[in-house]
Amino acid sequence: MSQPGNSDDIHSSVKDYYGKVLTSSNDLKTSACSGVAAPHPIIRKAIAGVPDAVNSKFYGCGNPIPLGIKGKDLLDLGSGSGRDCYVASALVGPEGSVTGIDMTDEQLQVARDSIGEFEKTLGYAPKLRFVTGYIEELQKAGVEPSTIDVCISNCVINLCPNKKLVFEGVHRALRTGGELYFSDMYADARLPESVRKNDVLVGEGIGGALYVKDFEQMTQDIGFAYPRVLAISPIAVKDKELQALVGDTRYYSITYRLFKTDEHEKAKEGGFTATYLGTIEGHEDKYELDIDNVFVKGVSKPVSRSTAAILSSSWLSGFFAVDETSNSNSGSAALPSSAETLMNQLRRLEQQNSSASGGCCSAGAKKGCC
Ligand SMILES: C[S@@+](CC[C@H](N)C(=O)[O-])C[C@H]1O[C@@H](n2cnc3c(N)ncnc32)[C@H](O)[C@@H]1O
Repeated sequence: MSQPGNSDDIHSSVKDYYGKVLTSSNDLKTSACSGVAAPHPIIRKAIAGVPDAVNSKFYGCGNPIPLGIKGKDLLDLGSGSGRDCYVASALVGPEGSVTGIDMTDEQLQVARDSIGEFEKTLGYAPKLRFVTGYIEELQKAGVEPSTIDVCISNCVINLCPNKKLVFEGVHRALRTGGELYFSDMYADARLPESVRKNDVLVGEGIGGALYVKDFEQMTQDIGFAYPRVLAISPIAVKDKELQALVGDTRYYSITYRLFKTDEHEKAKEGGFTATYLGTIEGHEDKYELDIDNVFVKGVSKPVSRSTAAILSSSWLSGFFAVDETSNSNSGSAALPSSAETLMNQLRRLEQQNSSASGGCCSAGAKKGCC
């Protein structure tokens, strides 16, 4: 498989790391999962049904699988041994579909080998497939434009030398109203070459962590709605030598939501309110769109124009009632955090988490935690 664009040898080094160096989640040298909140009980139940061979090679840094996706078409970027695809396939049910894409043969092999076993657990044949390819070249790998409702990804985009190609490809692959719901590693500064070129740091993800502000700008330029933050937690570098290399830069695992909406549909003068209908299984009482926008079932709340566009025209639209109001002030309600505010939130959370205990998304924690 020829490597996309100016990727130097990063793809080869990453393939080697995930295909040959790491044998299980216990070999990771950074604690990208520590501080990440435990997944929803519905996700935990689904994880418990995933074959052990798949779970033991889970290398994610978050829990990027939304509820309410029955019947949807999902794509997982850098699916690895496939854990999130297996979980998603239980959630989308027999009518939905899940495609995992990865470039590392060893990981794909593990993912493909357990589909038969999982079919017996589910009681139906899931529309679950794993394709070989680079996430910078989705179409070449057979992912057609406007065919995906929800794209997920768990700790992968940091590994890509050309992140813009990835976000552009995802934007193309999503249907209007679709979203990229993903966990990845971010930094509070642009990274020096000594970090970007260190094989272990690149393999572990933080060598390619995107500077938060660059990420926000890049995705806005491509045409996504303003990125929504759903979860943030600091990443600790455990290894002493690596600690010296990373210096003062702070790293975070962040779950973002990037919607592909037609914002102009709702670009009128008045304000908007939104009411959550309580119809997503597992979120019967309230729904968290992002850390700034939590909706209690049946309670109408003012929302920004951008939030109104998401709730009225994305795949979430069936779960909300959105109304226009004559009060134009509500148009600025609950605007998403700016990058500056986000940095402050990250620091506050870091302090809170320093006294909190352990991580929650490793395979070892799968029964009680993830
Ligand atoms: C940190 S692991 C995460 C795997 C999986 N998402 C999980 O949570 O267990 C990164 C995975 O991304 C894959 N990957 C990295 N860069 C890629 C690229 N440019 N195209 C396709 N796959 C890639 C690697 O092969 C590896 O399986």
